[in-house]
Amino acid sequence: MMRISAHMQKTLNDQVRREFGASYLYLSMAAYFAEKNLNGFARWMRMQAMEEAKHAMKIFDFVEDRGGRVTLEGIDRPPPDFPTPVAAFEHARDHEAHVSAGIHQLYEAAATEKDWATQAMLQWFITEQVEEEKTSSQIVDTLKMIGDNASGLYMFDQELGRRGGAE
Ligand code: FEO
Repeated sequence: MMRISAHMQKTLNDQVRREFGASYLYLSMAAYFAEKNLNGFARWMRMQAMEEAKHAMKIFDFVEDRGGRVTLEGIDRPPPDFPTPVAAFEHARDHEAHVSAGIHQLYEAAATEKDWATQAMLQWFITEQVEEEKTSSQIVDTLKMIGDNASGLYMFDQELGRRGGAE
């Protein structure tokens, strides 16, 4: 198989950074929710953080499989606090849109280079991002509907806390 180009290697390394950045952001949100005793949301965020680290590792492994070199860049410090639970999930939703934009740019670069293997690898991410954007925006909508209703918030916290593992 054709060795990965220097440009693809650089853009894939950028995506490794973005996925670990998402992991770090969700961990910060897990800590925020745990402090508020919203332990279901905290658990959901913790699992999401682990998923993001797996996403980063998928790309990490791919770069190595293609004879490339992984280099890790700095990750931005995530906000430690959020004004409200809905604001935290809005931030998550907006961050997912940012991650999707990164994936789409990568795909465009791979298409331009006729790098078929990178395109095939990215197909999984494109599909995954549709799911991630949908999930986070549905949570935002539900939290907005709940508003200041404490028992509604309690029940939704319980529901998200039942989240199982995923890729
Ligand atoms: Fe791996 Fe949520 O982007």
